[in-house]
Amino acid sequence: MHEEFLNSFHDDLTPWQSQILQLDAMILPDEKWTLESWQNVWNRNYQLHLFVQKDEVQAFALYQLIEFNPTWHLCKLVVAKNHQRQGLAGKLWDYQRKISPDSEIFLEVRVSNLNAINFYLKKSMTVVGLARGQYSNGESALRMIGPRYWGQN
Ligand SMILES: CC(C)(COP(=O)(O)OP(=O)(O)OC[C@H]1O[C@@H](n2cnc3c(N)ncnc32)[C@H](O)[C@@H]1OP(=O)(O)O)[C@@H](O)C(=O)NCCC(=O)NCCS
Repeated sequence: MHEEFLNSFHDDLTPWQSQILQLDAMILPDEKWTLESWQNVWNRNYQLHLFVQKDEVQAFALYQLIEFNPTWHLCKLVVAKNHQRQGLAGKLWDYQRKISPDSEIFLEVRVSNLNAINFYLKKSMTVVGLARGQYSNGESALRMIGPRYWGQN
């Protein structure tokens, strides 16, 4: 597991950074970020966790610290198509839990994204609200929060 901090996103991307942008565009085309967005988001409040094997970025999770109690906003969770359903999202999730065990996680997910909703429910996330028309196509988002004390989930 690797942590790559976003202050290193310059115009000359490292191979891993290029793969992250490609994965983002391929897996979440409607929500992909431009290079500029990646560069702009950096400050100490973001963390990027990567799952890499043989120099291939297979999955990543991007979190933003939104409260110092602490609460992390899961901005992106992406697993390459050919590596889905192999437990990689679970590994990234468990890593975050391990390094920040008393934190809370907040996220928004498209109401149509049943795969992700299944995953988050399995991780004991709770639906706390609906953001109507959140996405550019008018789709709504489920808002979910996870407990501060994770136990064995
Ligand atoms: C959602 C996503 C991150 C899950 O990643 P993953 O590595 O495949 O998930 P895991 O293998 O760790 O799955 C853990 C559990 O989540 C649930 N789950 C994951 N993918 C699922 C699917 N396609 N259908 C139903 N349940 C699913 C299952 O309960 C699974 O446990 P099981 O395999 O023992 O049944 C991945 O499908 C993905 O990248 N999707 C596209 C991007 C996306 O939608 N990101 C979330 C945006 S909010």
